Amino acid sequence: MNTLPAHVRIVEVGPRDGLQNEKTIVPTAIKVALIDRLTDSGLQTIEATSFVSPKWVPQLADAADVYTSIRKKPGVRYPVLVPNAQGYARARAAGVAEIAVFTAASEAFNRKNVNASIDESLERFVPVMQRAKADGVAVRGYVSAALGCPYQGEVPVRDVVHVVKRLHALGCYEISLGDTIGIGTPGKARALLTAAASEVPMPALAVHFHDTRGQALANILACLELGVTVVDSSVSGAGGCPYAHGATGNVATEDVVYMLHGMGIATGIDLPKLIETGRWLSTQLGRDNGSKVGRAGI
Ligand code: HMG
Ligand code: MG
Repeated sequence: MNTLPAHVRIVEVGPRDGLQNEKTIVPTAIKVALIDRLTDSGLQTIEATSFVSPKWVPQLADAADVYTSIRKKPGVRYPVLVPNAQGYARARAAGVAEIAVFTAASEAFNRKNVNASIDESLERFVPVMQRAKADGVAVRGYVSAALGCPYQGEVPVRDVVHVVKRLHALGCYEISLGDTIGIGTPGKARALLTAAASEVPMPALAVHFHDTRGQALANILACLELGVTVVDSSVSGAGGCPYAHGATGNVATEDVVYMLHGMGIATGIDLPKLIETGRWLSTQLGRDNGSKVGRAGI
């Protein structure tokens, strides 16, 4: 077991993963206010929105308006999700400086999510990566269904590692292991991270746990003990994938930061301000004040 890291970088995914799964469309002004509040709470990386097809995810059809309206604090990164060259062109037209591409370790899930096989989705990324390199745009990668698939069930570790290696070889500076439906447990998370880190460097790996069964903090701790230093989470536990039946919210950023600070691990985040933002978001989304918005899920 490694010693725990002194610092963890949180990738806040609430404005994207959270709001993409809301039943109603959140007004652009609320999205912008949310991201500005998250910036003020000290987060260093905030996934702002998604340039996927608005027919597939109407909740984020206002991606360009959101991106151009947010206050961009120097030194803070505001990546956006991009599925293909069309999404990349839209993102760049809005002035985006960092993107995240996404595929899966399960063919069945990838087909439902992006209407393509894993190979096809990776092929779509080739021109995106080429343009990003030429434009100086950093690219993160996601592997969904990394600990289980809502359609296929078990997903072999070797299938996940295969996709991790391919994203890394394509030029993703960081690959996030997505437990899309929150089905993992600490032993499985540990086994996956160990296998992935034997193929790509640990600093190039991140973890992304949805919290369907309350396993996310335990999984994160197991991964911290192995040396991971980048954790995805979502303010007030918002989140879910519209194309993953059973996917509920991401682990709440407030809970992750509380645990990390309690263990003496720095994040640079002002926890009271973050909690206030979570409460504000819950109110905006019509939940009880202070509740975690994602836990009820679908
Ligand atoms: P498709 O229908 O196969 O695409 O969708 P197509 O290339 O055949 O195009 C169909 C239409 O979409 C065309 O328009 C295109 O112009 C348009 P039409 O001619 O019919 O008017 N189109 C676009 N429009 C705007 N922006 C674009 C774009 N691309 C095509 N970028 C596609 C394929 C990938 C586009 C679609 O399946 C899609 O957008 N899927 C996204 C699904 C999604 O966002 N899922 C949630 C995010 S992933 C997630 O949450 C998991 C994660 O959190 C990690 C984890 O938890 O595991 C990251
Ligand atoms: Mg997710």
